[in-house]
Amino acid sequence: MDGVPCLRVSRCHAQQFRRCLQSKGALDLSLCLVKDSEGTVLLPILPSCLSELDLQSLRTTVASDSACDIVWSQSPLQAKKEKGKTRGNKLEKILQELLESYGERWTEELKGDLPHSFQWHGDLVLLGDNCFALPVWKKMDNRLWTAVARGLEAKRLAKMSRISRDGFRSPEVTMLLGEHNWVKHVDNGISYEFDVTKCMFSAGNITEKLRVAAFDCSGETVVDLYAGIGYFTLPYLVHAKASHVHACEWNPDAVEALQKSLEANGVSDRCTIHQGDNRQLQLCDVADRVNLGLIPSSEDGWPVACRLLKRTTGGILHIHQNVTSPLHNATADDATHRVSGKKADREVWQAWADDTSNHIASLLRNITGALWTTNILHIEHVKSYAPHVHHVVLDLECRPS
Ligand SMILES: *[C@@H]1O[C@H](CO)[C@@H](O)[C@H](O)[C@H]1NC(C)=O
Ligand SMILES: *[C@@H]1O[C@H](CO)[C@@H](O)[C@H](O)[C@H]1NC(C)=O
Ligand SMILES: *[C@@H]1O[C@H](CO)[C@@H](O)[C@H](O)[C@H]1NC(C)=O
Ligand SMILES: *[C@@H]1O[C@H](CO)[C@@H](O)[C@H](O)[C@H]1NC(C)=O
Repeated sequence: MDGVPCLRVSRCHAQQFRRCLQSKGALDLSLCLVKDSEGTVLLPILPSCLSELDLQSLRTTVASDSACDIVWSQSPLQAKKEKGKTRGNKLEKILQELLESYGERWTEELKGDLPHSFQWHGDLVLLGDNCFALPVWKKMDNRLWTAVARGLEAKRLAKMSRISRDGFRSPEVTMLLGEHNWVKHVDNGISYEFDVTKCMFSAGNITEKLRVAAFDCSGETVVDLYAGIGYFTLPYLVHAKASHVHACEWNPDAVEALQKSLEANGVSDRCTIHQGDNRQLQLCDVADRVNLGLIPSSEDGWPVACRLLKRTTGGILHIHQNVTSPLHNATADDATHRVSGKKADREVWQAWADDTSNHIASLLRNITGALWTTNILHIEHVKSYAPHVHHVVLDLECRPS
């Protein structure tokens, strides 16, 4: 994960949100909160707590008119002097004892070799890359992993290495401790089940998943063209109450995970999985809504999406894209990255949306032989990859005219 996850809130509600996060143990006490230039405050969140955070309930607890969202701060947040009693400290203490039992001395070098990032998936903790690389750990074998698990209050351990570039979104994860590889990750009331060595749970789309969860899709047929392990398919079924979701996915590991999660959430009767290349999909003229959740671009799926829309009534496309704006000069004291976008960014997104809207109208005309009107309903900002690269979602209404 690049950057530090933060809850972005308005200044007037910042103290209430801070207390609320702290009471849930989700506030990163080792980092200072940051006031940004737009009158909002960024509250640093422990990455391990991110997936369990329910923004809707936070909002209700604090004040009905309060707003909050998750952003990734790319600039290093200032560390607090005195660190709280974090799990990291407990882990350090346990490992120090273990080393001493082997007659080894605790050094700064060893301290630097401890994991820097963790992902909690139920009782399994996934350790980040570049840890426990020093030879001294080797001789401890399983005693090391048992100690680490104890320090982190976990039952199973796995370690993440670099993401493989074979076309599948699969990280290289190896099990260090534990009987089996399947984990259950609960996010916004939805259970995601997957084999941690074959699929990954990406926390990155949390704001978009929450937005989808808040849609009302009752009576609708939805097609999710890039379903993965069900990041969007599951919120469409569980929270948005879609009548039926057709989920397309070509990675067999993701399909297996999706099948299990559909059952775990009791929604498999409302979902059809289509395994394979979605460009070969036989369906057409069925969808009220098509989700195109692929970045950097879902453009390959646009003709498929146009074929899928209901010919007589049309529907809505949710088109994801990594949009790059021309580089603008940052001032040195610009502490927080401008996630909500400068005016220039917004203009680039709008230009991309206009182009896309025209392109889709043309595709629809060519495919159906009839005239269509496309209408930009909304452009949602999901994440900044850099000050000038943004993951956005275009909500495009398409109707036959
Ligand atoms: C977010 O969702 C998109 C589309 O499903 C996916 O390609 C991506 O890997 C997800 N994760 C992040 C961190 O953007
Ligand atoms: C989005 O674009 C940026 C810049 O090209 C790139 O670093 C990032 O990996 C892209 N994200 C995805 C998921 O393609
Ligand atoms: C950014 O600033 C530098 C020095 O002030 C200047 O040379 C450069 O052209 C600027 N770049 C842009 C994209 O404005
Ligand atoms: C639609 O068809 C016209 C005429 O063949 C072509 O010029 C245009 O590029 C097509 N539009 C798209 C988006 O493919």
